[in-house]
Amino acid sequence: MTSLWLDGARAIPVDDFSPGSTYDTVVVGAGITGLATAALLARSGMRVAVVEARSVGAGTTGNTTAKLSLLQGTVLSGLRRQYPQKVVNAYVEANREGQAWLLRHLQDNAVPFQRRDAYTFAVSDKGADRVRSELAVSRAAGLHVEEVPDPGLPFATLGAIRLPDQAQFNPMDVLESLAADFRAHGGALVDGVRVRGVSTGSGVSVTTDAGTVHAARVVLATGIPFLDRGLYFAKLRASQSYAAAFRVPASTPVPHGMYLSAETPGRSLRTYPSDTGELLIAGGNGHHVGREPSPRARLDELLDWTLRHFPGAEATHTWSGEDYQATNLMPFFGKLPRGGGKILFATGYNKWGMSNGIAAALAITADILGGHLPWADTIHHRITSPAGAVSAVGLNADTVKTMAEGWAKAETAAPDTAANAVPAEGAGVIVRHGRKPVAVSTVDGVTCRVSAVCTHMRGVLSWNDAEKSWDCPLHGSRFTPSGDVLQGPTTARLPGVD
Ligand SMILES: Cc1cc2nc3c(=O)[nH]c(=O)nc-3n(C[C@H](O)[C@H](O)[C@H](O)COP(=O)(O)OP(=O)(O)OC[C@H]3O[C@@H](n4cnc5c(N)ncnc54)[C@H](O)[C@@H]3O)c2cc1C
Ligand code: FES
Repeated sequence: MTSLWLDGARAIPVDDFSPGSTYDTVVVGAGITGLATAALLARSGMRVAVVEARSVGAGTTGNTTAKLSLLQGTVLSGLRRQYPQKVVNAYVEANREGQAWLLRHLQDNAVPFQRRDAYTFAVSDKGADRVRSELAVSRAAGLHVEEVPDPGLPFATLGAIRLPDQAQFNPMDVLESLAADFRAHGGALVDGVRVRGVSTGSGVSVTTDAGTVHAARVVLATGIPFLDRGLYFAKLRASQSYAAAFRVPASTPVPHGMYLSAETPGRSLRTYPSDTGELLIAGGNGHHVGREPSPRARLDELLDWTLRHFPGAEATHTWSGEDYQATNLMPFFGKLPRGGGKILFATGYNKWGMSNGIAAALAITADILGGHLPWADTIHHRITSPAGAVSAVGLNADTVKTMAEGWAKAETAAPDTAANAVPAEGAGVIVRHGRKPVAVSTVDGVTCRVSAVCTHMRGVLSWNDAEKSWDCPLHGSRFTPSGDVLQGPTTARLPGVD
């Protein structure tokens, strides 16, 4: 599947990788966090390189729905259940600064974006309670959120709130502009090079599959950090969610705001003014990566829901993306523990990375350059709430159980015989080669056989029938059918099996 944003040729200029080079800062990852951090540091006169494993935007930023909003579903009331209002206010301030910085950048660089009202709506009594809590917490945080009797959706709602004048855009326009800004200030942007490790001494050495570079520090803007220091992979829920773009007939009305449901399964809507007319984008239906028997069925459910409410809509693109939710719901950014202050990172945006990613970039840059952001200090000094601690214990108990179930299932998998040597087109199966689980799949007529054991911490992989990938149910690493890494925390490919 290819997202609306990544479809079509967009040649973002890149630079050659120079093994042995020395930089002030190496930023790993060319999504919104990495490119914003790199641009800010390069503007300050630093010598900076961005090293991206795939291509600019290939991670979550190229697969988002790209709403830039301070009304974020029911995020603020969720945070308020764990933290005092002053910590929620700091989160809002971080997002407000992130949003303002990005809008200024877009305006200064003539990058298109649209101003839109953001809505949170409910379709159940439970959802209506959540909407009411969100209204109260948002207002307490100083946001001018208002109740609306009718949000203008083509189905009945039981409550809705609105924050006027938020924004939406094409995220690849944003990345292209950030990359140009970065390179115009002397930055080196390298793609197709995966970082394998970081060692610290007087500075840092960044080891990649194309050689080693050196720097005073490294920023991990990789979605989930691939270094195990701080055990962040165990504090984050990796979630896969879906999106689709639709051409809608003129006879079917389309609402023009940005909408998100208060309930699970999530339902998100926005529009996009494409060159060939306005498209409707629907998103949602997220689940824990690798733990869904049929991701394709989750996508189909989203498509059915959209067609039911927007008769005649025709899907032009379908896609999915992976994002991370911290067990305590607050993004992590700053110095990685046991990194000697030389390894910085950001993660855990809980599907609100357009503003949180920029906020993290501002905070990391301030940290490096010696600046001071009061909201960043408050977020850093929060204490893990009892609810966050319980959630972390639950997440890890679940992970251990999932690991055991995966191995038990692999032990009883069919033996690796000629009869199951070639799965049907688009299918993947786990078979047993002696005691070793082997992942066999056929995609576009090519059958691949690779180890079914995740190279991060030995989770047994499961087949993703929507993305045609092998996904790890423990911490969310994902691989192509031939074993290349799509998404971390792993950095090592799956070995082939003859
Ligand atoms: C379906 C969906 C809808 C969403 N909608 C919204 C929305 O409307 N509004 C909003 O604010 N947020 C939204 N989000 C969340 C938002 O898209 C993300 O939080 C954000 O894009 C994350 O950006 P990032 O730069 O941290 O990570 P990414 O964009 O994933 O960038 C990380 C990069 O690091 C690279 N990388 C990883 N490991 C290595 C390595 N070892 N070496 C080198 N490179 C590496 C990856 O290839 C990747 O390009 C959505 C997310 C999803 C999945
Ligand atoms: S991602 Fe951690 S074991 Fe697979």
